[in-house]
Amino acid sequence: MASREMKELPPKEVFWHDEKMHQIDGFWYLDSLMESIAAFRSQFQPRTDDILLTSIPKTGTTWLIALCHSILHRHDNEEEEEDSLMKMNPHELVPTMDISYLTDQVQEHLKSDHTTTTTSPRFLHTHLPYSCLPEAVRSAGSSCKLVHVARNPKDTVVSMWHFYNKIFGSETTPDVTMESAVEGFCGGVIPYGPFYEHVVEYWEESRRRPEKVLFLKYEELCRAPNEHVRRLASFLGKPFGSDEDGDAEVEKVLWRSSLNRLKELEVNKSDEGLELAPIIPKSSFFRKGTVGGWKNYLTPQMAHRIDLLTEQKLQDTILSL
Ligand code: A3P
Repeated sequence: MASREMKELPPKEVFWHDEKMHQIDGFWYLDSLMESIAAFRSQFQPRTDDILLTSIPKTGTTWLIALCHSILHRHDNEEEEEDSLMKMNPHELVPTMDISYLTDQVQEHLKSDHTTTTTSPRFLHTHLPYSCLPEAVRSAGSSCKLVHVARNPKDTVVSMWHFYNKIFGSETTPDVTMESAVEGFCGGVIPYGPFYEHVVEYWEESRRRPEKVLFLKYEELCRAPNEHVRRLASFLGKPFGSDEDGDAEVEKVLWRSSLNRLKELEVNKSDEGLELAPIIPKSSFFRKGTVGGWKNYLTPQMAHRIDLLTEQKLQDTILSL
């Protein structure tokens, strides 16, 4: 997505109320982010120990950021309640490259790790699909690590519906209906979509290069958090001990990163926008966090339509969502 390609933008769609999106190399991007995405792709230089978190919006990004941060900083000299998550929204602690690459804050963040220790690796996030990541990140010689979180499509579409109505809506614009949201989702016309192609790219790369890409599922994290947090910590090179102390550390990381804790912190309660993305209220990342909550929002026909598509799109993989 060089600047030349951005000037010759191919197929165009309207997303939500009147946000414009363009499709490049099979994936959809909001027009408002094209410049930042292009700069990230062409200018970003990974370090060997960088950790890049990846996700489709609303699949568990905030949780993943909080977990990784708490794992990497668990030995920092902090009181139980006094970690950095208490002072900063997770999305300000770990910026999203494709949204705010060109800001001064992100450029500062890239110069060093701005959190509490200088020994921690750089720790970043992106919603870009694997095939659209900077070449230097994907290349065989690059040793930076990627962690991807995926979520079942029906809970994802419902979470998107709440989120995008909140950020793109206003008091005078009626909410986009769930029918339209499902229509857009199934047609692949969502930011960074199509959903299935995006998730399959990371899944396949995690199978090709398991030492480079860790693939996590939101539902699995909910079902067996201790097991998957241990897996995540080992992948990040910071394994927990298998003794009681290790178990206690896992519990602390889970508690620090939990939805119940984060949503009650003053720093996350505000309807004020993120400094790096002012249209996104800090509170908008925290809602119910349930598995199967879609049952309260999707009609049986909508659910059936998504199930059929999931089956069709994943039939050549052993991935289930
Ligand atoms: P729901 O809308 O289903 O409640 P993202 O972080 O990718 O934007 O995803 C947001 C979804 O993750 C929301 O789901 C939100 O409630 C949930 N979430 C946010 N923080 C979480 C946490 N610490 N633990 C579990 N789920 C969390």
